[in-house]
Amino acid sequence: MFHASADSGLPADCCSDTNAPAALPASGRVAHPRAPFVLRGERAADVAAREALLDAALGPARTLKSSERLRSGRLPEEGLALVAEDGQGRLVGTVRLWNVSAGGRPALLLGPLAVDESCRGAGVGAALMRLALARAEAAGHAAVILVGDPEYYARFGFSAEATAGLVMPGPTERRRFLARELAAGALDGAAGRVTATGRRTVESNRSDVARAA
Ligand SMILES: CC(C)(COP(=O)(O)OP(=O)(O)OC[C@H]1O[C@@H](n2cnc3c(N)ncnc32)[C@H](O)[C@@H]1OP(=O)(O)O)[C@@H](O)C(=O)NCCC(=O)NCCS
Repeated sequence: MFHASADSGLPADCCSDTNAPAALPASGRVAHPRAPFVLRGERAADVAAREALLDAALGPARTLKSSERLRSGRLPEEGLALVAEDGQGRLVGTVRLWNVSAGGRPALLLGPLAVDESCRGAGVGAALMRLALARAEAAGHAAVILVGDPEYYARFGFSAEATAGLVMPGPTERRRFLARELAAGALDGAAGRVTATGRRTVESNRSDVARAA
């Protein structure tokens, strides 16, 4: 478990403590959080809360995204499914990374990243991003790609330059198709389709066997 604190360079607070004296602004968002949050690896018991958070944050159309084609039927990379939990043990943030081939280069696809609306702006998203990237780098991964707003992800070193030759398996706005190299030059000249390479889920293996039978 990773406690977000000044020592770790991660922000220490999250706005989950709805009993805190901080007045709720008209938006319903607590501006000055009181409760600490922790980052930890996702557990099987987190799945329902994670899915509810993603539905609320991204809406039902989230399953139609081109990134989803690279995640469907796959498991995230081991150790790279992270959650943020508030002081009451409520799941308030999620991020996962998935194994892909980016035009033949091994890479990770990051996403979805989401933070509970009541906690936004408190650094939970940044803490999840920094820990995910640090863990990916420590594990020897060379590059991370994602589809998201460059206005948010540029602060973590992502840009559209390294994806210029890559193609997602579905409609994708080029300006939102971003990469960050963890090893210098990992995506130099990378060209071609992004395909899923991660471990398959049990369900996905079962349907392959059924199709082959
Ligand atoms: C994007 C998201 C994960 C950020 O989480 P968070 O915990 O609020 O992020 P942080 O506290 O680390 O950073 C907040 C800052 O990012 C900015 N920000 C958030 N989303 C942004 C976006 N899409 N574009 C540009 N800036 C953005 C905020 O304005 C804030 O800026 P400030 O620091 O200048 O005040 C969260 O807003 C969220 O879950 N949004 C809905 C789902 C989503 O869009 N996921 C990303 C897919 S692209």
